[in-house]
Amino acid sequence: MSWLWFLASLVVLVSAAPKKDGRGVVVCYVGTWAAYRPMRGQFSVEDLRPDLCTHIVYSFAGLNSTSWTIRSLDPHLDLEENYGKGWYKKVTGLKKEYPDLKVTLAIGGWNEGSGNYSALAADPEKRRPFIASVLRFLKDYDFDGLDLDWEFPTQRGGAPEDKENFIILIKELRSALTVGGYILTAAISASIDTLASGYDLPRVSDNLDLVHMMAYDYHGSWDKFTAPNAPLFPPSDKLTLSASLEYVLRNGIRADKLVVGVPMYGRTFVLESPSRGVLGESSITTQGFQGPFTRTDGFLGYNEICNELRTGNWTVHWDNTSLTPFATTGNRIITYDNPESIMHKVKYAMGEGVAGIMTWSVDTDDFRGDCALPGQTSPRDPLLQAIMIAIEESLYKKPTTLPPTKKPEKPEPSSAVQLCLYPSLYVVLALITYRFW
Ligand SMILES: *[C@@H]1O[C@H](CO)[C@@H](O)[C@H](O)[C@H]1NC(C)=O
Ligand SMILES: *[C@@H]1O[C@H](CO)[C@@H](O)[C@H](O)[C@H]1NC(C)=O
Ligand SMILES: *[C@@H]1O[C@H](CO)[C@@H](O)[C@H](O)[C@H]1NC(C)=O
Ligand SMILES: *[C@@H]1O[C@H](CO)[C@@H](O)[C@H](O)[C@H]1NC(C)=O
Repeated sequence: MSWLWFLASLVVLVSAAPKKDGRGVVVCYVGTWAAYRPMRGQFSVEDLRPDLCTHIVYSFAGLNSTSWTIRSLDPHLDLEENYGKGWYKKVTGLKKEYPDLKVTLAIGGWNEGSGNYSALAADPEKRRPFIASVLRFLKDYDFDGLDLDWEFPTQRGGAPEDKENFIILIKELRSALTVGGYILTAAISASIDTLASGYDLPRVSDNLDLVHMMAYDYHGSWDKFTAPNAPLFPPSDKLTLSASLEYVLRNGIRADKLVVGVPMYGRTFVLESPSRGVLGESSITTQGFQGPFTRTDGFLGYNEICNELRTGNWTVHWDNTSLTPFATTGNRIITYDNPESIMHKVKYAMGEGVAGIMTWSVDTDDFRGDCALPGQTSPRDPLLQAIMIAIEESLYKKPTTLPPTKKPEKPEPSSAVQLCLYPSLYVVLALITYRFW
């Protein structure tokens, strides 16, 4: 088992995406405010993995609702003027070394709200300067396209007309962007209620190059009971990835345009009394607890979670219904995703014929490899590696390397010994496999 994991990891490193037939995209969102996290949570452009991502989505730009133009939300980080850090050009500059990589710019996100996007989409006099500004922006900073992250049409201060206006907006954007050789994608909700009210799905599918479905945040401390952030099953539960996926595929999103999102973070809960080690217990606070890097109540990056599990007195459980892990200590619970649960999701989604996998967000993977077991070949980014391995296996029907439930998530140190003894064999095998593919 560990041997296969190692071989697969090695092959992944050799056979960096994308695939020629267009399937197997790996869309990597980066939330650039991760640049301000303390200590080993601080993320920089050098921590991105163009070898494991086919698309990098720079998140987020905003909307200037005076001039109705796209704007930088953090000029000091994004731009070069006034001694800025120039991240726009640094990230798009990765394409020099990775010519197949696409780098797109996301506009919107949770904090931008919905109201101003609703006003934009409703008015041709606002859309016109907006679209012109997007084209200029993409060209100036060498992005390959725009990712529209309006969260969400018809919700959070939106209007019923948003459903129609969203289509008008993406239609106009797409015609303008296509002329310039740019792609247009969007992040859509995975909530079936929001999907039904906010999106005309067949026309969403027709007017985008890829559709990124945010299949996470199904549960959190706001529920006041403990539940998985991103449950895969059962499909009979509306708040699961399998239910969202079935809904969008049945209601008009073409599978070969759909990119299914998986989270690199978990949700935290605080109970009144010590956990009995099951899900569904009622939590007393609506805030959960926070971690040292992301410092947000109710939220922990995978890098924070794996460090907690390594150093704290946590018991790790596996929920065989949602196919996700959770961890308990005293009256605290974390529900999250690990390489195993990610691989289950990826294989399920790829089995439905989707274009690929998206992830929010690579800045909370274990990008420093702090949680790696001794001897791992490539300790960095275990979740991103799990995505790549599971995609390769899905597309090329390789034997499964999915670690069984209740086994360690990572290879045992003994594999490292094997690897040291037969390094050339591994490389040769990897190359042969690569050529064969
Ligand atoms: C929005 O655009 C107007 C007009 O160009 C400009 O004066 C203003 O500073 C911009 N606001 C922001 C927040 O960028
Ligand atoms: C929408 O635009 C208005 C006017 O520019 C601004 O004051 C407001 O903060 C914006 N809304 C959000 C959620 O950013
Ligand atoms: C660790 O947790 C277990 C079970 O919750 C408990 O029995 C044990 O006393 C704890 N150990 C320490 C060192 O806190
Ligand atoms: C989890 O479910 C699978 C398939 O339904 C079953 O084979 C396995 O025994 C279950 N594991 C546990 C620990 O219940």
